[in-house]
Amino acid sequence: DFEKMNVTKIKKAKNSKNLTMITAYDALFAKLFEEIADIILVGDSLNMSFAGKPDTLSATLEQMIYHTNAVCAGAPKAFVVLDMPFGTYINKDEALKNAVRVYQETNAAAVKIEGGEDRADIVKHLTSNSIAVMGHIGLMPQYVRSEGGYKVRGKTKEDTEQLIKDAIAIEKAGAFCIVVEGVMSEAAQKITEAISIPVIGIGAGNVTDGQVLVWSDMLGFFEEFKPKFVRHYLNGAQLVKDAVNQYRSDVQSKTFPSKEEEY
Ligand code: KIV
Ligand code: NA
Repeated sequence: DFEKMNVTKIKKAKNSKNLTMITAYDALFAKLFEEIADIILVGDSLNMSFAGKPDTLSATLEQMIYHTNAVCAGAPKAFVVLDMPFGTYINKDEALKNAVRVYQETNAAAVKIEGGEDRADIVKHLTSNSIAVMGHIGLMPQYVRSEGGYKVRGKTKEDTEQLIKDAIAIEKAGAFCIVVEGVMSEAAQKITEAISIPVIGIGAGNVTDGQVLVWSDMLGFFEEFKPKFVRHYLNGAQLVKDAVNQYRSDVQSKTFPSKEEEY
């Protein structure tokens, strides 16, 4: 029952179904997710999970374009979103120049931008120049150094009100949906009710219009730590280690390759 998504269908999903978004960084895994997920995000989280860096800030546009091309090649039917990395949308002109480059050099359907009211003018500039934009508010990993850490949002009335303002500003700027990350469930519900475009949550409870998870987290490949909001649907790390251990043992015992596996 897979249906290829577009921005119109995603907007309509607000009142009809919960959206499933997952990250992918390469063709191999993108192909596995292609006809299951509504949206594939080439997240700058790849800078941590794949490049082993401490945060997302050092990801470059060149890297995001490379990975997006791999994802689009593996999953041509998917609705693919490129996560604009830190520093590539510091003002309207830079943002548009870089987003146009994304459309020219990849088949991404949209770009994602972190920021609320403070960046609504940038989102507006992109959407009024025919770039589809997914917003991202709440806990924004690209703000980790300036904020001094990752902090769950929406714990106070004031912060919840700011988040609602952020969501409304991004909707007004023309975004077709918004990621809401690391927000108290009660606040996430208020945000979801305040706007008419879908809210895709991560660490924001089950009150949103969809969910997103980083694939290597949900499949249990990332072992360093498990945030509270991640559910492990597979014990990927253990399965891989067991398999490679078996391989080593077969190599050592010369039971691999067998007669059937030789020329
Ligand atoms: O980079 C990423 O994977 C993300 C999602 C967690 C929303 O931004
Ligand atoms: Na990201």
